Amino acid sequence: MAILEKHKILEKNASLLLVFSFLVVTIGGIVQITPLFYLENTIEKVEGVRPYTPLELTGRDIYVREGCYVCHSQMIRPMRDEVERYGHYSLAAESMYDHPFQWGSKRTGPDLARVGGRYSDEWHVDHLTDPQSVVPESIMPKYGFLSDRIIGAQHVAQRLETDAMVGVPYSDDMIAAAVEDFRAQADPNADASGMQDRYPGAQQRNFDRQPQVTEMDALVAYLQVLGTMVDFSTFNPDAPR
Ligand code: HEC
Repeated sequence: MAILEKHKILEKNASLLLVFSFLVVTIGGIVQITPLFYLENTIEKVEGVRPYTPLELTGRDIYVREGCYVCHSQMIRPMRDEVERYGHYSLAAESMYDHPFQWGSKRTGPDLARVGGRYSDEWHVDHLTDPQSVVPESIMPKYGFLSDRIIGAQHVAQRLETDAMVGVPYSDDMIAAAVEDFRAQADPNADASGMQDRYPGAQQRNFDRQPQVTEMDALVAYLQVLGTMVDFSTFNPDAPR
């Protein structure tokens, strides 16, 4: 056949074959990827998912800075062994406000996508300070210095603004109240009604039991919110939205 005769030219010319293979892959890529940018339902809207509070966001930055993602993923895949061990598989919406996302592919330690609420704050502080004190066979490094690092809220408003720039729905009100909310979340005696309106369900307490706000407070606040925003007792993945 004539077309096969022409194909011989490609088969005998490596550079030409490379160019045409590239073309085919490009077309395939465009066909698969472009619609995702326009589809409304690429990220399904899920009730309960809200942006991180200023304190949680600070904790998240510490998580990234310390490279926790090098050993921990944050994505439960929809496979039986994962779901039985870690809980409901991760939804796209649960990481829609993560910049950058922390899905990861390395699990030297367990997946942390739903670690929120699984342990007490004390457990987290003990574990981060000296992992082997609570899990003797652990090979996780110690992060006790986080308890000595007192953090102010100098940059937290700008931090929210930066995320707002890439599409996280932090309102002007949230940015204006960022410092107040940052302090209120770690202080059980503060009036947190404003913070509760802005960030429904935010947990308010002294996470590390020290008087000052430390990096440990922020990191534990972040760990305790992971995977807790969606109420899976009422969530129905197949419901029409
Ligand atoms: C060198 C790899 C490594 C690094 C880096 C690391 N971890 Fe771990 N992590 C582990 C291992 C292994 C375990 C399982 C044993 C244990 O519980 O200590 C673990 C367990 C945990 C657990 C308990 C999870 C569960 O479901 O039982 C939490 C929470 C945790 N790590 C948080 C962190 C945080 C936060 C950081 C960064 C500050 C971090 N890890 C950095 C290896 C690591």
